[in-house]
Amino acid sequence: MYSVEKNNSDEVMVVNLRSDTFTKPSKEMRQAMFDAEVGDDVCEEDPTVIKLQKVAAELLGKEAALFVPSGSMGNLIAIMVHCDQRGCEIYLGEDCHIVQHEQGAAAQIAGVTISTIPNNSNGTFNINTIKSRLRDSKNVHHPISRMIAVENTLNGKILPLEWLKEVVEFGKNNNLKVHMDGARLWNAAIGSNTCVKDIVRGLDSVTFCLSKGLGAPVGSVLCGSSEFIIKARRCRKLLGGGMRQVGVLAAAGLVALDGRFRLHKDHEKATAMMKAINQMNSKIINVNAASVQTNMVFVDVNNSEAIDAEKVVHRLGTVVDDHPDDQVIVKAWAEWEGCLRLVFHLDISDEMLNAAIKKFKYVISQFDPAIIN
Ligand SMILES: Cc1ncc(COP(=O)(O)O)c(C=O)c1O
Repeated sequence: MYSVEKNNSDEVMVVNLRSDTFTKPSKEMRQAMFDAEVGDDVCEEDPTVIKLQKVAAELLGKEAALFVPSGSMGNLIAIMVHCDQRGCEIYLGEDCHIVQHEQGAAAQIAGVTISTIPNNSNGTFNINTIKSRLRDSKNVHHPISRMIAVENTLNGKILPLEWLKEVVEFGKNNNLKVHMDGARLWNAAIGSNTCVKDIVRGLDSVTFCLSKGLGAPVGSVLCGSSEFIIKARRCRKLLGGGMRQVGVLAAAGLVALDGRFRLHKDHEKATAMMKAINQMNSKIINVNAASVQTNMVFVDVNNSEAIDAEKVVHRLGTVVDDHPDDQVIVKAWAEWEGCLRLVFHLDISDEMLNAAIKKFKYVISQFDPAIIN
């Protein structure tokens, strides 16, 4: 099964590797949505939402959970609950989603300042940098040091467990709450063969997304203590995230969670893609093999006049020649200068992977004459 698009009046395979958010709900998921028992969730009367929240809290070893419309809202709610006073400051890695892709919501909506720390290549950051930036709570000139946020996985990389323990310890010792943006928490757990409870142990709050690799059409879950979730529910309503008969979506979330063990297949495909690219031995593209730990492949492109990441992405997404290897559209994203990203997910079959590898080789051989296709 694959999507087809018309191109020069021929049907070609489309392999959408832009993100793991592009998955479509399966038949089983749609049936579960159809059959879902529902109620008014703002009044906490939706049995399917209650079930999802219970399952999520139990899986993560937290007291309670809250179904929220998106990962961004889950992160913002966590910030609002932990930073319950205007003028708080939070510490996070500069590459994370909260800093790069959430419109500065912490500042824009929660009145919180963000102190960013350079990320190391493995996704961690230097805890001593936070130490050096901690504020004097008695100094009226300073914001109030309140929270640390980490992201797992970060660009597909799994945060080391030992480092996470140090962050939790540092937070406890310095009166800082610790939140994890675990949009792809299950990729981290399955990719490192670690029980998810061990990954999130000691954290004050965690969000994970049902609509990324897990394949639900929408929704995230925010987990924490019962007291935290009572406050989070209030914030969710404030932000317009109170939903009514939303068991139809929670039902999709339950099916998505049940399917979490298949994520290793996406990781294997990402590794196969990385190996195929690196086996080309091209001077103009390569992948840092150590960075491919889950379902994401970041391809470095040696920018020159002839080639850059945008050009490669454009060429991957078009069919120009009659050559059989060109007869596929590979959708990718030029992530930042000199880099494009490929993300594997449940709608990518082995057949699609193989076609994408052939297309990649074909396209790169056109840019790099040293490569013989
Ligand atoms: C790491 C990370 N956190 C949070 C989000 C936000 O999720 P949403 O798009 O559901 O708001 C994303 C979305 O891609 C993400 O990749």
